[in-house]
Amino acid sequence: MSGAPRSMADSGEGARDAAWPASVHERAVVFSAMRKADLPEVGAVETAVYSHPWTLGNFQDSISSDYQCWIARDAGGGMIGYFLLMLAPDEAHLLNITVAPARQGKGFGRLLLDRACLIARHHAASAILLEVRPSNPHALAVYRHVGYQQIGIRKGYYPAAGERREDAIVMRLAV
Ligand SMILES: CC(C)(COP(=O)(O)OP(=O)(O)OC[C@H]1O[C@@H](n2cnc3c(N)ncnc32)[C@H](O)[C@@H]1OP(=O)(O)O)[C@@H](O)C(=O)NCCC(=O)NCCS
Repeated sequence: MSGAPRSMADSGEGARDAAWPASVHERAVVFSAMRKADLPEVGAVETAVYSHPWTLGNFQDSISSDYQCWIARDAGGGMIGYFLLMLAPDEAHLLNITVAPARQGKGFGRLLLDRACLIARHHAASAILLEVRPSNPHALAVYRHVGYQQIGIRKGYYPAAGERREDAIVMRLAV
């Protein structure tokens, strides 16, 4: 089991180790600043998750612009997810938040959202804004659950299938 305390496996407590909930180990999340060397791995997750993924250039530009670009990894270095937050004098803008497909729905998105809040607060922002596709019910439900409220619609904001465009729901959370 990845991330299991070494001492347990070594001390013959295999049965207890096997019964240990995976989520406890997975909570050992390490956040680090996204670097250029991370981008191939980030790009692979991005492409696996989105119909219209960010390009590596989009990530590189965000890093070069000194946006808050963070990666979450498990204790074994496996990718959990990432987020990019653009800080403005008052409101921060969550540009991208992504949990790797196999890790979704296990509480990691909440950890990333909480971390984004902490960073926004630390930089004296009073709120976080984000956009989300109406066709993304899971993300919408998660954002509503953690307290984001819809404040508007951006018409035709996102590219969609077949040259079409999709609106964005704009949400805001006071932090
Ligand atoms: C959206 C995303 C970041 C959420 O991360 P996640 O790991 O799946 O979400 P979590 O499991 O951490 O859930 C977060 C919270 O929402 C709650 N939640 C999850 N699904 C819910 C639902 N359908 N209704 C209400 N609450 C829900 C969880 O219980 C949890 O709340 P808690 O911490 O109080 O228990 C992730 O699913 C993802 O990367 N999706 C693909 C990419 C994407 O859509 N990104 C957003 C683009 S705008």
